[in-house]
Amino acid sequence: MAATASSPLLILLPLFLLLASAAGEKQTHIKLYWHDVVSGANPTAVPVARAAVTNTSKTAFGVVIVIDDPLTNGPDLNSGKPIGRAQGTYISAGKDELSLMMNMNFVFQSGKFNGSTVAIMGRNAVFTAVREMSIVGGTGVFRMARGYAQARTYSSDLKTGDATVEYNLYISH
Ligand SMILES: *[C@@H]1O[C@H](CO)[C@@H](O)[C@H](O)[C@H]1NC(C)=O
Ligand SMILES: *[C@@H]1O[C@H](CO)[C@@H](O)[C@H](O)[C@H]1NC(C)=O
Repeated sequence: MAATASSPLLILLPLFLLLASAAGEKQTHIKLYWHDVVSGANPTAVPVARAAVTNTSKTAFGVVIVIDDPLTNGPDLNSGKPIGRAQGTYISAGKDELSLMMNMNFVFQSGKFNGSTVAIMGRNAVFTAVREMSIVGGTGVFRMARGYAQARTYSSDLKTGDATVEYNLYISH
């Protein structure tokens, strides 16, 4: 009798543990604006390498850009509240279509996420309306993070190359 009474509990125990750990995981959604400033005297995105061949210019295939781009809570770089920086690289990795390989840390420098980072890696075909990238990790508040980011171009100036992109981060941590 005692054995049959305890066995359902033993069977359910792993389920309870699973539910407890799932309940401990947070879901955080962050919307912010990423500003790629390539023009002017104080660019935040700088090319550091390009392919030796010259007929790749259609998609800038082989160009490597290092960024320290400001992140703000609103679309206007000058009036938006600074949230942090996007630091890393993007590489033009598409031969026939303009497609970037993004590899960057979002470094939070204000509010409750100050000092924490989120690592983003993924394909960014910039002329597509919504580009989805992976959130592959994080530090601080975002330790063990995983999730995804969705990027939508807010504005881009084809003459200067400057662009503002809305990012929505969906983070489990
Ligand atoms: C340009 O591309 C063509 C076709 O892919 C290739 O044959 C050629 O060697 C490339 N380089 C130059 C400098 O034209
Ligand atoms: C963020 O944290 C740093 C380091 O602790 C601190 O110096 C800075 O004042 C904080 N910034 C804001 C806006 O809270």
